[in-house]
Amino acid sequence: MDDSATLWHGRFDGEPADALRALNDSLPFDRRMFREDIAGSRAHATMLASVGLLTDDERAAIGEALDTVEAEMAEGRFVAAPGDEDIHTAVERRVTEITPAGAKLHTGRSRNDQVAADLRLWTRAALDDVAWAVLGLQRTLLDRAAGAGDARLPGYTHLQQAQPVLLAHHLLAHGWALTRDVGRVFEARGRADVSPLGAGALAGSSLPLDPHQTAAELGFGAVFENSLDAVADRDFVADALYALAMLGVHLSRIGEEVVLWSSSEFGFVELDDAFATGSSMMPQKKNPDVAELARAKAGRLIGNLTGLLATLKGLPLAYAKDLQEDKEPLFDAVDTTLLTLAALDGLLSTARFNTDRMAEAASSPYAVATDLAEWLVAAGTPFREAHAVVADLVRRSLDGEAALTDLVSADERLGPEAAKLLQPGVSASRRTSHGAGGPAPVAAQIQRFRERLEADTARLG
Ligand code: ARG
Repeated sequence: MDDSATLWHGRFDGEPADALRALNDSLPFDRRMFREDIAGSRAHATMLASVGLLTDDERAAIGEALDTVEAEMAEGRFVAAPGDEDIHTAVERRVTEITPAGAKLHTGRSRNDQVAADLRLWTRAALDDVAWAVLGLQRTLLDRAAGAGDARLPGYTHLQQAQPVLLAHHLLAHGWALTRDVGRVFEARGRADVSPLGAGALAGSSLPLDPHQTAAELGFGAVFENSLDAVADRDFVADALYALAMLGVHLSRIGEEVVLWSSSEFGFVELDDAFATGSSMMPQKKNPDVAELARAKAGRLIGNLTGLLATLKGLPLAYAKDLQEDKEPLFDAVDTTLLTLAALDGLLSTARFNTDRMAEAASSPYAVATDLAEWLVAAGTPFREAHAVVADLVRRSLDGEAALTDLVSADERLGPEAAKLLQPGVSASRRTSHGAGGPAPVAAQIQRFRERLEADTARLG
């Protein structure tokens, strides 16, 4: 065979144009699925032999050739031929070069079911890697939360100081969001875990294929039900991209808080030198680039999802080359997510929390206003009335009449007992309800988070 020829050149005259090849070839990016492609071919050849479409010798020769090609690719020794359009044609061309039995490998198979199988295998493994990395970041948040003791900081709404909470509580808020991301990653992994092999180009085959066997060989959890759907379905990619985009959004929120907290205005955290950058002009600068990139990468992850959805929209059944556009966004999303997770994990595990500064910020008397109102409620005042009483004191204090603590002490409904609520640390410690930000519920929460992390780790195997 002329090695510049494609596998489909039979009915064509002349060579494909360079511009077509440049646009059409996917080998430059789909070669990273070579292990999956070869595993799929092994399973397919085994099935062909067991249904009598290959002899045992042919199957063995193909198996050895696949081993050789895998080694060549793994070691960077594989030499692509000009006609190698994608990973599937490259592997098959080389196998056939090594053994004439290779000419039977594509029996009952199309690149349409093959590419879907490869990408499903790749996605399954990639999502496992992502899940492990998220669990690693959650472990860091847990360790930092467990080590934070009773350090407290202002909780914010509208980025205005609202009510003090424990630092551990704030850190675990991000941890729980990541728990849901792990759930979405598991879910997307399950969606990918369906074998399309045996669907052929679109309609199945007249040959006695056994799709259940290939599925079992490859460890797929299920087999396709409809050959058209099997080759046309890329919603498993969209599911993966959504899980990664949502995870990216959560990482961006962590990133944004690190940016804020590391500013001199907040001063809540000092980044380790290994996870901060400097300025080429301003010698005093220490910049939170990791956190900023964590914030920024979400845009790219969202773009990958919306780009694929736009590609899929309106595509008629079954396969069209548009579907080749599924891989680059997915590869990019997985790479981006793993890079971001590793850097953010390093940043968070080495950052130094300035708990004095946090405590100082958490000690604003105004942050205790809700506690004062609840103190009145406990003494029988309807909440709306209690709110008005405290609001009046806050307004008078802000107007410069006296310190809030003095106004509270002097107030006949509140008095010196209530004024004790304004002492540093008292407010946070009074948050006792389920899931609240005070010491007792946070201790229980840390325990539940730890159990959840262990369960998810066990689930991943
Ligand atoms: N490289 C192609 C893709 O990624 C493989 C499938 C090609 N199928 C075809 N009928 N041309 O989608």
